[in-house]
Amino acid sequence: MQYEAIIRQLSLEQKAALLSGKNTWETYDIAGLVPSMFLADGPHGLRKQLGASDHLGLNESVPATCFPTAATLANSWDESLIQQVGHALGQEALALDVQVVLGPGLNTKRNPRCGRNFEYYSEDPYLSGKLAAAMIRGIQSSTTIACPKHFAVNSQEYRRMASDSIVDERTLHEIYLTNFEIAVKEGKPKALMSSYNLINGTYANENAELLQKTLRDDWQFDGFVVSDWGGDNDHVSGVASGSHLAMPSLGREGIDELVTAVKQGRLAESVLDQRVDELLRVIFASSAVKEGATKETIDWQAHHQIARQAAQESIVLLKNDKQVLPLAAKTKVAIIGDFAKQPRYQGAGSSAVNAKQLETTTEILQQFDLEVIGFAQGYQRNGQQDEQLIQQACQLASQAEVAIVYAGLPEIFESEGLDRNNLKMPANQCQLIERLSQTTAKVVVVLSAGSSIEIPWFDQVEGILHGYLAGQAGASAMLSVITGQVNPSGKLNETYPLSAEQVPFNAQFPSKKRYSYYMEGPFVGYRYYDTVKSSVRFPFGFGLSYTQFAYENLTVADDGIRFTLRNIGDTAGAEIVQLYIGKKDSSLLRPAKELKGFKKVYLQPGQAQTVFIPFDEYSFRVFDATSHSWQVEAGDYQVYLGASVDDIRLSQTIQRAGSRLTTDLPAESIYHTLAFKQAHLADFEQLYGQKVPTGETKARVVLQATDIIADLQYAKSPLARLVFRILQKKLQQAEQKGKPDLNLLFIYNMPFRAIYKMTNGQCNQAMVEQILRMVNGQFFVGLTGLIKAWNQNRQLQKKA
Ligand code: BGC
Repeated sequence: MQYEAIIRQLSLEQKAALLSGKNTWETYDIAGLVPSMFLADGPHGLRKQLGASDHLGLNESVPATCFPTAATLANSWDESLIQQVGHALGQEALALDVQVVLGPGLNTKRNPRCGRNFEYYSEDPYLSGKLAAAMIRGIQSSTTIACPKHFAVNSQEYRRMASDSIVDERTLHEIYLTNFEIAVKEGKPKALMSSYNLINGTYANENAELLQKTLRDDWQFDGFVVSDWGGDNDHVSGVASGSHLAMPSLGREGIDELVTAVKQGRLAESVLDQRVDELLRVIFASSAVKEGATKETIDWQAHHQIARQAAQESIVLLKNDKQVLPLAAKTKVAIIGDFAKQPRYQGAGSSAVNAKQLETTTEILQQFDLEVIGFAQGYQRNGQQDEQLIQQACQLASQAEVAIVYAGLPEIFESEGLDRNNLKMPANQCQLIERLSQTTAKVVVVLSAGSSIEIPWFDQVEGILHGYLAGQAGASAMLSVITGQVNPSGKLNETYPLSAEQVPFNAQFPSKKRYSYYMEGPFVGYRYYDTVKSSVRFPFGFGLSYTQFAYENLTVADDGIRFTLRNIGDTAGAEIVQLYIGKKDSSLLRPAKELKGFKKVYLQPGQAQTVFIPFDEYSFRVFDATSHSWQVEAGDYQVYLGASVDDIRLSQTIQRAGSRLTTDLPAESIYHTLAFKQAHLADFEQLYGQKVPTGETKARVVLQATDIIADLQYAKSPLARLVFRILQKKLQQAEQKGKPDLNLLFIYNMPFRAIYKMTNGQCNQAMVEQILRMVNGQFFVGLTGLIKAWNQNRQLQKKA
């Protein structure tokens, strides 16, 4: 042990204390021996709360730069740009005395309706892993620590703390772990956050196979693992399995749990010491050690420029009929849409940043060479129909050459704690766009949304630009692209299906029950559409430019591919070239092709460049469920080079040496056909390799500590059922107001045990047991017990 000398000076209680929080954000310090660390969100800008702390972004935090969210940055496919953003984030953390930045988030986007997709990079694990690694490198280029999250298979917000992801071994490794593997191996984060959910029956935070074998032994992770806030289920089991820190504070009881477990021989003290040692290695390498530390001063304007550059590089041009864009100088434009006045620039929840400054389109328009004839609100943000606003907008548009419509998803659609019901934009916005298209003006729609949406008005407009959730400098970034100062080069990190129904197993998402069956297996995102040849609105990797590129002379060698990229238009610009690999004659179930490399290349008009994309350890490997290991299947592979997954420009076949692999899947399995979207649970069991667990909360009338508050609807006590109805009513009211009520959402999806885990020691396990008695029909007995337990806990806290 590296810190044996210190550990020997600590009492058992002190060692136990180090493994859970001191409060919402800080770890314990031990006077003269161990300093405390401050952990703060977040993934696209710092959220350090100084006053009342909560973990949902409700209370004000110290102003910080709000960079574009992960889903936005991912459209840049630009590792060096993301590294630069990470570096700026790390500097702001240093300046604010934050040691650990809780990000990046890199879960694979399984379904476009997951409420937190705006916080994640991609539906593709390779792209997610590479970009997350860049962010981690950037954050950690100072002594700030990055904490990638949420490890792992965390794909829905509904029941997020009590959902069991049932996924087959191969899909687990290929789709839901490869992103973390790349991020860990290439980014070398010093911390990692486990996810709330269970994976195949075991909580992520208690999953020794994942936390020790995969993470530490296979990927050489040498940092500490922290639970997601309130995600620690059984503290002793978490520590035994490889988790180091339960957050937020568990109060005195958290310490006592570990002490008792050691005394009773349920947890070896050597294991406790090992966790403390692993944690101390990070603490002592962090800025928590103040000696000789120089306080950073931030050049906020420079960071604003980084935010702008990042937003610019991430804008995706989705449609440009008859070259409506870029707009020539002095074009007569009407600016339409509420988002032009009040930008939609980040998502709701723990990632929300109190932006240092915020650009709005209407305020900065005069800096661009356009003739603006006016602004019209166009629609009510809360979705209410308003004919007058539409008429005003159309009237304004008819005097303009081009109507620029700022539209997309309002705040309520994208939030932590909430999955979307569909992929639709509010109907009043769609109606506005359709009506504007009937005026004489050309219509250019500027979208703000953090994830995939349906675009039913696609044929009616001339241009579409997508800015995603572009952060505090998104407005100027977008106007630079509209006016041609910047040539858009972003490409979509995810597929845009024609409708939500096209997404495989969409009807089962999010699972409303305990078990969430990953029935699509590895066919997530483009892996599905491309394999079954189902055409979509915009494929993965799609994005237009003001110029055009030609792909020439592909050669494939053992170390990678080489080809010539030529800018054949008359504007300078960047192209994101994508390398996909497939194996047509595979004896395994395989997506038609998978992303295995990419490069962003900037070229002047007429310029050509030889581009090399190397193969790497991920290029040809496949997870073999028979031997539980990565293997290369011997034989021919197709190498595809394209501008998107659907726009392959060059391809070649090469041979690779490897093993002969076989699948366990019976020959008659529906998964061998293109109709596997119709698979039933029995089919999935063949893919899963065993019987899947079943059972519903509904059938279990007696509620347990791991059931969620929303399960009160099934409770025995009529009072408890009434509480549920009140909760649901309040949520509906928030929805009607157009603003997510994060507190209520959190409570709705929170298991009873979190009443202990999330109250910084105010409640303990005994109190949770009494509350459960109350909801399970023994109201008065429970109430008396609760008062008694509350009193006892108060005495205990005083002792702490
Ligand atoms: C979120 C994490 C976040 C943490 C602290 C949790 O609810 O899932 O992503 O870092 O809160 O705010």
